[in-house]
Amino acid sequence: MTEHFDVYGGARLTGEVAVVGAKNSVLKLMAAALLAEGTTTITNCPTILDVPLMADVLRSVGCEVAIDGDLVTITTPAELSHHADTSAMGKLRASVCVLGPLVGRLKRAVVALPGGDAIGSRPLDMHQNGLRKLGATSEIAHGCVVAEADGLHGAQIWLDFPSVGATENILMAAVLAKGTTVIDNAAREPEIIDLCRMLQQMGAHIEGAGTSTLTVHGVDELRPTTHRVIGDRIVGATWAFAAATTRGDITVRGVDPHHLDLVLEKLRLAGAEITTFNDSEDQGFRIVQHDRPIAVDFVTLPYPGFATDLQPFAVALSAISDGTSMITENVYEARFRFIDEMVRLGADARTDGHHAVVRGVEKLSSAPVWASDIRAGAGLVLAGLCAEGITEVWDVFHIDRGYPYFVENLNRLGGHIERVSSVTERG
Ligand code: UD1
Repeated sequence: MTEHFDVYGGARLTGEVAVVGAKNSVLKLMAAALLAEGTTTITNCPTILDVPLMADVLRSVGCEVAIDGDLVTITTPAELSHHADTSAMGKLRASVCVLGPLVGRLKRAVVALPGGDAIGSRPLDMHQNGLRKLGATSEIAHGCVVAEADGLHGAQIWLDFPSVGATENILMAAVLAKGTTVIDNAAREPEIIDLCRMLQQMGAHIEGAGTSTLTVHGVDELRPTTHRVIGDRIVGATWAFAAATTRGDITVRGVDPHHLDLVLEKLRLAGAEITTFNDSEDQGFRIVQHDRPIAVDFVTLPYPGFATDLQPFAVALSAISDGTSMITENVYEARFRFIDEMVRLGADARTDGHHAVVRGVEKLSSAPVWASDIRAGAGLVLAGLCAEGITEVWDVFHIDRGYPYFVENLNRLGGHIERVSSVTERG
């Protein structure tokens, strides 16, 4: 049995939508629970497929994990296995984030190489080099990362690139190392700050969260905690692009608008009216797009730059904007595969290396298209909403990995999308 979405073109999305916890945060917070014996509780978790997959990864090393709606409870035993090799490992990238905590806590780990979105080469060299600096050996053997140390010690670590995953793994090993670790050129994503906050609540000593220099003073042990996941800025931004692309009017709640400063600024340049709200009761923004969007350029970069995860939405918006946009992809080279699918929908787009030129057309036209990853899939749905006719989006299991109740939310906002099950795949 396979599923696709029928997306009916011509909708103008209007109304309110609530964003829950960030996928790219919750999975790392779940891994952090390995660092302390006892029961850790994580709230505001999204109901997406990756959460039960990560739960399986944690169970494979000995944890008990319960998922109840948006609540995930992880009980970590005194004795953990150092060997994380279950089929779930190959289904998500974040599974590699158990490497740092296992090395930190057990001083050894065998962790199956992760899977995740096919968005380009995703090596682990910076993760491994960081662990080596902390005193561990690290090699790839039989499809696993194997790391071992007599003891971990603090170190000065410079990352070649502010990798999110490498920063997280090194951080989670360093919190239990002896002495002080400095990670320079560290990633500054809000999800890193969220992880630092949770580790601090667990008793870790970390300075510089949200800056390029993280200083970690190792401690002997950590304690379990209760932590609320930050709102998903990528999902929040998806709704912002949904409003801009369909000339809609959407109020998005549950996400810190500061995490979207650059995104919202770009959408203002495209002609959107945006108001933000941010207090203890309510966080979010309202975006209204009255006229056809004006073409703007986008360049993907690590945070606070424009997120690579949002690049498909930038392409979809540019495809129907007035004028020509240049989109530059600096993080994942294979993400431009999405453009071939947009061309099927009538987009006037071409790529040259890591640049794409998109000349806006008045209307797209429906076609069958294939999602290659979570964000590309959601981008195709947005494009389908402004294509004439019914666009079939296939391989929607990708979308289900990142967007809780995507179809339901789109329909509540006035879209018309149907999830269709069929026995045969369209190929
Ligand atoms: C995370 C996000 C993903 C997002 C990406 C960039 C999760 C589960 N996924 O992925 O949605 O698109 O950040 O914002 O949080 N690199 C190396 N060597 C390494 C590590 C990374 O060369 O050891 C390169 C990668 O190939 C890529 C770049 O660094 O070109 C960024 O990767 P990284 O920030 O590590 O992304 P992930 O943590 O895998």
